[in-house]
Amino acid sequence: MAAGKDADLFIEAAPERMDIKQDLLERASALLDADAIIATNTSSLSVTALGAFVADPGRFVGIHFFNPVPLMALVEVVKGDETRDAAVAAARAFAETVGKTPITVADSPGFVVNRILFPMINEAANAYAEGVATAEDIDTGMKLGANWPMGPLALADLVGLDTTKAILETLESELGDVKYRPSAKLGELVEQGKLGRKSGAGFYEYA
Ligand SMILES: NC(=O)c1ccc[n+]([C@@H]2O[C@H](COP(=O)([O-])OP(=O)(O)OC[C@H]3O[C@@H](n4cnc5c(N)ncnc54)[C@H](O)[C@@H]3O)[C@@H](O)[C@H]2O)c1
Repeated sequence: MAAGKDADLFIEAAPERMDIKQDLLERASALLDADAIIATNTSSLSVTALGAFVADPGRFVGIHFFNPVPLMALVEVVKGDETRDAAVAAARAFAETVGKTPITVADSPGFVVNRILFPMINEAANAYAEGVATAEDIDTGMKLGANWPMGPLALADLVGLDTTKAILETLESELGDVKYRPSAKLGELVEQGKLGRKSGAGFYEYA
C-alpha cells in the first residue's frame, strides 16, 4: 500500500469480510492525503458501517462495479450516511473517466441492481423447481422475452449458487421481508455441492 500513498483515489476490492476491509481501510485512512477519496467495491456490506473505519467518513464512498467489469457499463456510486456530496461527485467523475455510467444510490441492502436482480433469479429457480419449464426454456424465455443477455439460471450458475443464496439471505434479513427468502431449490443444489460453473454443475452441467 505504501506505493499508493500519493493516490487521489483508493478502492478496496478485498474479499467480502468486514475484518479484512477494516484493516485495509484503517491503513488507507492513515496513509493517504487528507483530500484523497477512499472507496469500497463491496456488493453487500453497509457503506456507512465501513465508513466508520476511515478517520473522516465524509470522504468514503461505495464504487460498485459489475461482473465482468470490462463488459458491464454500470457503476453504482453508494452514498453512506456520512459521505459528502463532493466525494459522490468525485466517484461519479472517476466512473465516467474509466468509461462507465454511474448511478447514485443510497446505502441500502443490495443497492439498486442486486435488490431487483436477485429476486428475479430466485423466481426463476422457483419456476424451475415447480416444473414450469426446463432450465433451458426458462433462460430462453427471459433472453427472448425480456431481452436479458443471458438467462437467470445461467447467470446464477455464473455468480455461484452459494453466493446467490447468500445475497438473498442478506436481503431477507436486512430488509425484513420473506419475499427475498432463497428458493428451496437453491438450498438443495448448494447442499449437494452444486455451486454452478465453479463446481462443474448447478442448474446446468459443465464439462
Ligand atoms: N465477484 C463479483 O461478481 C463481484 C461484483 C462486484 C463487487 N464484488 C465485490 O468485490 C470484492 C472482492 O470480491 P471478489 O469476488 O473479487 O473476491 P476474490 O476473492 O475473487 O478476490 C479478492 C482479492 O483480494 C485479495 N486479498 C485477499 N486478502 C487481502 C488482503 N488482506 N489485503 C488485500 N487484498 C487481499 C485476493 O488476493 C484477491 O485478489 C468484494 O467486496 C465483492 O463483494 C464482487
